[in-house]
Amino acid sequence: MNASQPAVTDRRRLHVVSQELAPRRLESDGAGRRYATFEVRPLSPLIGAEIHGVDLARPVDADTLTELRGAFLDWKVLFFRDQTLTGRQQAAFARNWGELQAAHPQRRAEIDEVARLEHDRDNPGSENVWHSDASFYEAPPLGAVLRAVDLPPLGGDTLWADTAAAYDGLPQDVKERLEGLRAVHELPAASGSIAVLLRSINARSGRPPVEHPVVRTHPETGRKSLYVNAAFTSHLVGLPDDESEELLGFLLHQLSYPEYQVRFRWEAGSVAFWDNRTTVHYGVNDYFPQHRLMERVVIAGDRPE
Ligand SMILES: [Fe+2]
Repeated sequence: MNASQPAVTDRRRLHVVSQELAPRRLESDGAGRRYATFEVRPLSPLIGAEIHGVDLARPVDADTLTELRGAFLDWKVLFFRDQTLTGRQQAAFARNWGELQAAHPQRRAEIDEVARLEHDRDNPGSENVWHSDASFYEAPPLGAVLRAVDLPPLGGDTLWADTAAAYDGLPQDVKERLEGLRAVHELPAASGSIAVLLRSINARSGRPPVEHPVVRTHPETGRKSLYVNAAFTSHLVGLPDDESEELLGFLLHQLSYPEYQVRFRWEAGSVAFWDNRTTVHYGVNDYFPQHRLMERVVIAGDRPE
């Protein structure tokens, strides 16, 4: 880093940034939008809302679907409570948003598109690192629908962070440094248990590292998001190692502010549906050695631009 650029990870500067945080909903977030076909109960001012009045086990009618598409873009994560549905019905709901990816045979549930994510004494939770699902793909998923099947009595919450709000909150000089910058995403050695798990699943495919823009533009809302994550982003392209590490560390730190996050407590019958293009998430691993079984379907996405 040259002398004219302040060290972005300077502790005092982090403090200043946190004082200046002023997350707010933008017009493009559907601020103030009203919904006629269901009730929306936000769980935080920025990100995450419960949807009440929609039965996911049944085909969603056209008016409800139109409004759900709006709510999905507005809130980035939709939560549904007290649902009773099979994996097949879960997949049918997700298919309203696009093609589904087949689950890896090792994790497959009742149909190809449904993956079982199971943890217990012999297989502790491993999703406790901030990540965007499969950002090491050239075209990472649009999103995922996750359903609670068996939960521990307490613990196992999931958090999501709003990467568009995190981008908005960056100091102007940092935003300028990010213009045109790209990052490498891969299954690295040093990003915790999720990498170990995913490497074992992806080992045979021999996935090469991929490059994505550090700031991606949402294909539907046009909003910019910070597109790096602690699990799979190894470095920034074209920067010396120390500068890459420092700037990447600063960007990842932004996603740690609770102001940008929502935390969801799962219950029997809970379903979460998130936009993987503009969020990162973290599965809290505080329930060992209890059993936790979730089923997930993944919607295919585009190459980030
Ligand atoms: Fe995930």
